[in-house]
Amino acid sequence: MSSITTHTLLEMKEKGERIVALTCYDALFARLLDASGVDVLLVGDSLNQVLAGASSTLSATLEQMIYHTTMVRRGAERALVVCDMPFLSYQISPEDAIKNCGRAMKETGCHAVKIEGGQPMAATVRRLVDVGIPVMGHIGLTPQSVHALGGYRVQGRDDATAERLKADAAALQDAGAFGVVLELVPAPLASQITKALTIPTIGIGAGPAWYGPVRVWHDMLGLDDQCFAKV
Ligand code: KIV
Repeated sequence: MSSITTHTLLEMKEKGERIVALTCYDALFARLLDASGVDVLLVGDSLNQVLAGASSTLSATLEQMIYHTTMVRRGAERALVVCDMPFLSYQISPEDAIKNCGRAMKETGCHAVKIEGGQPMAATVRRLVDVGIPVMGHIGLTPQSVHALGGYRVQGRDDATAERLKADAAALQDAGAFGVVLELVPAPLASQITKALTIPTIGIGAGPAWYGPVRVWHDMLGLDDQCFAKV
């Protein structure tokens, strides 16, 4: 079985094939999920809630993400491993983002990073892509902004926010992102964004219109009664 690359994901979208993405935080589950054919293993900063018991992702550290991504990378042979960059590891400046995302790539062997935010992050995405760091975007409900957003609420219900999210997705694609997570957006909006983009959208709580769903693995198993994202 050949390894999944960012190019494979683009080809899958072109062919209309579904991408299967799950969160993963350790080598054992990486091995099991990889062997079962999961395409993308996202080492989500949700681990700060799911594993570490925090009430949000905000206190996740780069060291935590590097530790868990290293484990996941050891267990994965075929899947694309994506390291979710924690709060304030990429927002301060593009230079800081290159330093921290580059560190994650070098120390963990992951294939890509994920960062949250749309148009305001586009210049940073462009810089990362230009130095050879593949980037997955993340818009809609961006958990690192939970306090600014007033809670874990559906995003894009009104016209202005919906238009902004469409522009965010387009800006990420133009900046070179290879995919975009759409979290907690209404299904019709997710569908419009998915159709407008050539890169795949990966949905969580965004209806069935994306090319790939991503699920928090522990939630999917029903292990977590304080479910991070009920979908
Ligand atoms: O941290 C995470 O698990 C995520 C997914 C919900 C997409 O960002």
